[in-house]
Amino acid sequence: MNYRHAFHAGNFADVFKHAILLALLDALTAKDKPLCHFDTHAGRGLYELCGDEAQKTGEWREGIGRIFSDPDAPAPLRRYVEAIRAFNPRGALRVYPGSPLLAAQALRADDRLVLCETQDEEAAALREVFRGDSRVHIHARDGYAALNALLPPKERRGLVLIDPPFEAQDGEFAAIEAALAKAHIRWPNGVYAVWYPIKSHRAITPFHRHLAAGPFDHVVVAELLVQPDDSPLRLNGCGMLIANPPWRIDATLSALLPVLRVVLAQSSAASARVRWLRGE
Ligand SMILES: C[S@@+](CC[C@H](N)C(=O)[O-])C[C@H]1O[C@@H](n2cnc3c(N)ncnc32)[C@H](O)[C@@H]1O
Repeated sequence: MNYRHAFHAGNFADVFKHAILLALLDALTAKDKPLCHFDTHAGRGLYELCGDEAQKTGEWREGIGRIFSDPDAPAPLRRYVEAIRAFNPRGALRVYPGSPLLAAQALRADDRLVLCETQDEEAAALREVFRGDSRVHIHARDGYAALNALLPPKERRGLVLIDPPFEAQDGEFAAIEAALAKAHIRWPNGVYAVWYPIKSHRAITPFHRHLAAGPFDHVVVAELLVQPDDSPLRLNGCGMLIANPPWRIDATLSALLPVLRVVLAQSSAASARVRWLRGE
């Protein structure tokens, strides 16, 4: 277990994931009632793009680096780009906020944010980032077990983001399926967003089939391929599966995904799609 998100922060997958996360949180905060947001695999919260890890891979250059300085960022991406700019107030792209910081920025004073992270160093960094923010609760523990212990939240509305490192490769899908099944029993009305990598699409099909069969009545997926999925050796794209999606999120995603494809494409075969696995 030594995945470090610092190598990948701000890459195309983060742009995809975080633009969708903000769209989900904006939809949920449109209603005037407090909510609870769980981030089961939180990371360290803030990443230095001039640090050794980010510089070594340079992945952010094919992600946030492509859009950060564009004064005419396409409308569906503007909300996300403005959110990243707020963390870089001097105008140059120096740091990249992870999902916990972006969520904290999007949430309101009476919302809560529950963050889980197993690596001690990353959890310690998170505590530092959120020192003094009483909305935020940090658990240095397994995110799947924490969900089982902490659901449902007292607010009875909110979002769970599941964003594992997929070190166990396809085994991670089994862990996600088990976690979602238990979560559905404890909190059937929660919104659940699961990020997953796409190397070969064949590896994703059983996961989709599983969720298409239940237990949630409404499941939508958004997927972006920046390259054709013809090589299982590289990250060709990624997806977000959303169970119990907020009303009309499919329309928001249908506007966002084509823009992400154009901005993030690494090949002329790049593609994007939004489709319902179950319900509508
Ligand atoms: C992909 S990164 C998270 C990135 C973050 N969600 C973001 O978007 O900024 C995955 C993180 O999960 C942590 N992790 C791995 N297994 C975990 C588990 N079972 N429970 C909680 N965190 C875990 C890793 O240490 C890593 O920091």
